[in-house]
Amino acid sequence: MSQKDTMNWDDDSSAPLSNTPKARQVKVWDILVRVTHWTVAAGIIANLFFTEDGGEWHEYVGYTVLGLVVVRLLWGLVGTRYARFTSFFPTPTRIKHHVSDLSVRRVDEQHLGHNPLAALMMLSLWAVIIGLGLTGYLMESGLFGDKEVLEEIHELLANSLYLLVPLHIIAAIAMSYWQRQNLIKSMITGKKTVTDKPTTMK
Ligand code: HEM
Ligand code: HEM
Repeated sequence: MSQKDTMNWDDDSSAPLSNTPKARQVKVWDILVRVTHWTVAAGIIANLFFTEDGGEWHEYVGYTVLGLVVVRLLWGLVGTRYARFTSFFPTPTRIKHHVSDLSVRRVDEQHLGHNPLAALMMLSLWAVIIGLGLTGYLMESGLFGDKEVLEEIHELLANSLYLLVPLHIIAAIAMSYWQRQNLIKSMITGKKTVTDKPTTMK
């Protein structure tokens, strides 16, 4: 039985009699998710704007970011509840539910982790970062592939970040307004505010 089935808020006799929903803080993002997020973000920004293309620091930062993403992906298999892929993998059904849920701006226990559209963006960001690390390594080591082609792919992947990262940030800000929940602060503190009774905010 899914959690949704067990939580019938309308019939909950223990629900507060007052119409004012009670808000409480719930821990959503564990320390590994938060630390990897902000260090990966800092590393990507450093390599896009500050390090010398292909320089020593560029490589150190690039490999560090790659390592952090690998650790985060492993955590997606064995980590805490909301860090796991199983909790946010964007299946077509989840995307459909998310889109219909958006219209009622619901904030409750069911909507604490990454929403499936955000998850699509995150999977793309992780894939691009892994691609950058691999093409960077291959063009430097000369182990495999044509160096010029690898450089082209590396540049293309890096350029895609100039689009994906701003989109990701705009989406995080827009969803914060929409859900009346500061998602950026949540990525710092790890906590989200949940209302004991689902709040339908038109
Ligand atoms: C993971 C994050 C990384 C990002 C965001 C990134 C970003 C970039 C960018 C924006 C450029 C300039 C592309 C251009 O306009 O020509 C570049 C070039 C380069 N990167 Fe990276 N990079 C990353 C990782 C790596 C790694 C891990 C290596 C190698 C170990 C590497 C090696 C190089 C080299 C050699 C160039 C110069 C290529 C050329 O001569 O055209 N990068 N990178
Ligand atoms: C280069 C920069 C960035 C990259 C590559 C990036 C990537 C990611 C990834 C991969 C996740 C999923 C986290 C996880 O489950 O481990 C994520 C989540 C998130 N990021 Fe970023 N991020 C970047 C910058 C930022 C910035 C600057 C902000 C804030 C303005 C931000 C706000 C968020 C928020 C709020 C979430 C959680 C969204 C939710 O509640 O579902 N990110 N980001």
